[in-house]
Amino acid sequence: MVNNAEQIYKKIAEKYDFLNHFFSLYIDVLWRKKLLKLINPKRETVLDICTGTGDIAIEIKKNSGSTVIGYDISPEMLEVAIKKFKERGLEIPLILGDALELAVKDNSVDVITIGFGLRNLPDYDRAVAEIARALRPGGRVFILEFAPPEKNLFGFFYWIYLRHIMPLVGGIIAGVKEDYRELAVSIRAFLTPKDMKSLLSKHGFTNFRATRLSLGIAYIYSARIEK
Ligand SMILES: C[S@@+](CC[C@H](N)C(=O)[O-])C[C@H]1O[C@@H](n2cnc3c(N)ncnc32)[C@H](O)[C@@H]1O
Repeated sequence: MVNNAEQIYKKIAEKYDFLNHFFSLYIDVLWRKKLLKLINPKRETVLDICTGTGDIAIEIKKNSGSTVIGYDISPEMLEVAIKKFKERGLEIPLILGDALELAVKDNSVDVITIGFGLRNLPDYDRAVAEIARALRPGGRVFILEFAPPEKNLFGFFYWIYLRHIMPLVGGIIAGVKEDYRELAVSIRAFLTPKDMKSLLSKHGFTNFRATRLSLGIAYIYSARIEK
C-alpha cells in the first residue's frame, strides 16, 4: 500500500498521463475501453472513485448516456481532469474527498468504478465497505487494478521491468525513481484475484468476475451488491 498517495500525485499530476501511456505503451487505454465494454452502462449514475486525471470517467461519459461523477483526494489530479473535460466538452462533476469516507448518500449510485486506485488506499476493507454502502441494491462495482506478478517466466520478466527498468527510466525522464520503486513494491504486495473475491464477498457482493488482462498484468474485477 502507498500511504503518501496525496504527496505522490501532487508531484506527478501534470506528468501522470504521459508516464502511464509511455510505460504501458498505451495498453492502459485498451484496458479502460475493455472496462467500458464490461460495464455496458445504460442511463445510470456512475461514480468513478480515485478518478485522477479522469480517463475512466471520460470513457464512460463519451460512450453512454450516464451521469458520471469523478471523485478524488488530490486537487492537483482533479485540475488536470477539469482541463481534459473542458477540452472535450464533457460535463463531469467532480468531488474532492477521501474514498474511505465517501461523501455520497447510502444506496445512491448504480455503478462504482475504481481504476488503479484501491491499491493506493490504506484500508481496503473500509474502501469496499464504503462502496457497498453507496451502491443501490443490485448496484455494480468494477475494479481495474494491477495484480502481483504471476509465478511464471513472464511474471519474472515483468517483475524485472517493474522493479528495475521503470524506476530507472522514470528517474531519468521525470525524476520519480523512488515513486516507481514504491509502485513496484505495492503491486507485488497487492491482492490476488482470489483475495479480491474474498474481500468483495465479505462485504455482500455476489456475481464476482475477474477478467484477466495482458497476461495477468492487470485485472478487471466486477461484482454486484446484494442488500
Ligand atoms: C493511479 S491514480 C488512478 C487514476 C485513474 N483512475 C486512472 O485510471 O488512471 C490513483 C488516484 O487515486 C487517488 N487517491 C489516492 N488516495 C485516495 C483517497 N484516499 N481517496 C480518494 N482518492 C485517492 C490519487 O489522488 C490518484 O489520483
